[in-house]
Amino acid sequence: MSEQPIDTCMEKIVSLCKRRGFVFQSSEIYGGFNGFWDYGPYGIALKRAVERQWWLYMVEKRNNVVGLDSSIICHPKVWKASGHVDRFGDIMCDCKQCKTRFRVDQMPDPTTCTNCGSKDLTPPREFNLMMKTYVGPVFDEEHIAYLRAETCQPIFLDFHSIRIATRMQLPFGIAQVGKAFRNEITPRMFTFRSREFSQMEMEFFCADEGSMEWFEYWRQERWNFYLNVLKFPVEKLHLHPHDKLAHYAKAAVDIEYEFPFGWGELEGIHHRGTWDMSQHQQFSEQDLQYLDQSNNTRYLPTVVETSVGLDRMVLAILCNAYDEDRAPTQKEGMEDDVRVVLHFPATIAPVQVAFLPLSKKLNQNAQDLQAKFLGRYRTELDVTGNIGKRYRRQDEIGTPYCVTFDFDSLEDNAVTVRERDSMAQERIPIDNLRAYLDEKVLG
Ligand code: GAP
Repeated sequence: MSEQPIDTCMEKIVSLCKRRGFVFQSSEIYGGFNGFWDYGPYGIALKRAVERQWWLYMVEKRNNVVGLDSSIICHPKVWKASGHVDRFGDIMCDCKQCKTRFRVDQMPDPTTCTNCGSKDLTPPREFNLMMKTYVGPVFDEEHIAYLRAETCQPIFLDFHSIRIATRMQLPFGIAQVGKAFRNEITPRMFTFRSREFSQMEMEFFCADEGSMEWFEYWRQERWNFYLNVLKFPVEKLHLHPHDKLAHYAKAAVDIEYEFPFGWGELEGIHHRGTWDMSQHQQFSEQDLQYLDQSNNTRYLPTVVETSVGLDRMVLAILCNAYDEDRAPTQKEGMEDDVRVVLHFPATIAPVQVAFLPLSKKLNQNAQDLQAKFLGRYRTELDVTGNIGKRYRRQDEIGTPYCVTFDFDSLEDNAVTVRERDSMAQERIPIDNLRAYLDEKVLG
């Protein structure tokens, strides 16, 4: 896409998301609710497809990773043990003049308001990011519980149940996709930092010896996912090793993506050592050691984690897919117009194949053809507007293939397949359509 000012580019993506029903603000009729987002029909189709690709890649295509779907609310002690209740917060200060609130670690000069230049600031204060609720009939301190702030903690709690049930032996991983909640002080950049979001995490349990090799392995695997599955260009990605490591960690690296607003963290790969397991062992007073039958030793497993926000990944996919190019208008003698197009890979496109009857009289024929592919691909029947407008609409939602049923189709039993990126059109016999699309869409 041609270089555009950051704000314009983000504004266009946000506006397209709303216009076409990908993502819009939660509770809009009440003025919206900051940090919460709703995914419309195309948004959820995209999100589910991305999640599906992650699950395929991380769980189903391996024999050493299994899945989990845990509860969102777990015993409050979990978050004491993990350190979230006491230490999970941002240090903030407020400008007394213009009332802007800042994260102190993000201020170029923590003594001066970045917005108005005033030096009249409140002392830095810590804000905890855990979302609180009450469980049970009484709303008092004793009944406080928390919505999980990350999906990985229940994985540590369930490690032994899963190990026993599946007879898995170290090294192996447990993956989970689900909601996480953080009372972010400054939700920003559309869905990039939200208060409710989905995470896709995998905790890989292994012996400490050899754990750095596993860390390197998973870093490479996750890098490959962005290149080979999501088809991100390599120049839009980089690896950012953490300068400061938690005292228990041996290594940590972020995979960053170049969003229109700058480089932002997409995913973290963390060597967490035995920290989580030892904390839960201490707080639960249960023996959480693993018995290694190969050498009859007992130890707490070391953990290598891969952690990514699904919403943030979807936002990166939208930014990466967004493009404007010049396309000839349908009408002869008229100038080219700007075509907005989302270049999604076919595997994750919300609509993979659209069926377009050339005339109203052919609606039923197109619908009958579509019926043959329901459940095989994500499809749509698009009957309104002239064919040029319908192509543009499908380009805007990122549909890689449009199948047009015209009057000739009645005679030659063939349809025109139009490819989104090249806009090339090909006549395909209906009898060959499935084989043709399978190869293109399913890969
Ligand atoms: N278990 C480790 C963990 O949760 P994190 O760096 O706090 O680590 C991991 O979060 C990923 O979750 C981030 O790289 C990001 O993709 C996503 N994430 C974190 N906070 C988020 C937020 N407020 N909104 C959207 N995604 C978020």
